[in-house]
Amino acid sequence: MSRKPIIAGNWKMHNNCNQTVELIEGLKNELKSKDMSNLPEVVIAPVFTSLYVAREELDKCGCQKIKLAAQNCYYEPKGAFTGEISLDMLKDFNLTYVIIGHSERRQYFGETDEMINKKAHAILENGMLPIICCGETLEQREQGVTDSHIQNQITKALEGISNEDCAKCIIAYEPIWAIGTGKTCDSNEANRVIKMIRNTVKALKGEMAANSIRILYGGSVKPETIEEQMAQSDIDGALVGGASLKAESFVKIVEGASSKVMA
Ligand code: 13P
Repeated sequence: MSRKPIIAGNWKMHNNCNQTVELIEGLKNELKSKDMSNLPEVVIAPVFTSLYVAREELDKCGCQKIKLAAQNCYYEPKGAFTGEISLDMLKDFNLTYVIIGHSERRQYFGETDEMINKKAHAILENGMLPIICCGETLEQREQGVTDSHIQNQITKALEGISNEDCAKCIIAYEPIWAIGTGKTCDSNEANRVIKMIRNTVKALKGEMAANSIRILYGGSVKPETIEEQMAQSDIDGALVGGASLKAESFVKIVEGASSKVMA
């Protein structure tokens, strides 16, 4: 089973419109000399306010190969929800993916498993695909509850989603203690957890979904770590934070993942 690798840059709360255009120009320049046919799927997730210029810039520079994602959404289609953004509104930007359940949203903004499930349904209904984040705290890891915690997150996130839709979703395993700390999870351990996630998907949604769903690793991914991570059997790519904010390091990560791209 060949799953196309994905390298996704989660820009988090960085880059206004001008900075977004500059970074995309930088990515375009760095990618110019590369053989695009041999690259993984490349995704960037700017802030909401930069999506318009990002779309424009990607279309203008013929960079349609770089796909766009939003970092969040709200599941209701419209109404009195001050400050929220619906999927119908996000459709305007021709997005491929929407990140949901990032640990920063769970931790700082009270995003619950139930909300994440509702968001996943709304994203799929609107023709986009969710990148569903999961992961344990250091405390949970030390208590030995990593696997049960993640199984629970995945089970709740995928509730009511058909096997066919599930096969197209993306999951990102991001151990919270590895995010922004410079401390990557050991590749073998990341692969073990990702295999466990795949087995959870198999139990819930069957073999086809488990074999097709792409599961990424996130947490201090750097150009120096990507090849070892991609060499693992079940790691299908990376969700990159800090290292996606510089064109050079992000493109190095993209290149580092190209060894896993099947011709
Ligand atoms: P860092 O790569 O900065 O650790 O962030 C990871 C992350 O949270 C991506 O969503």
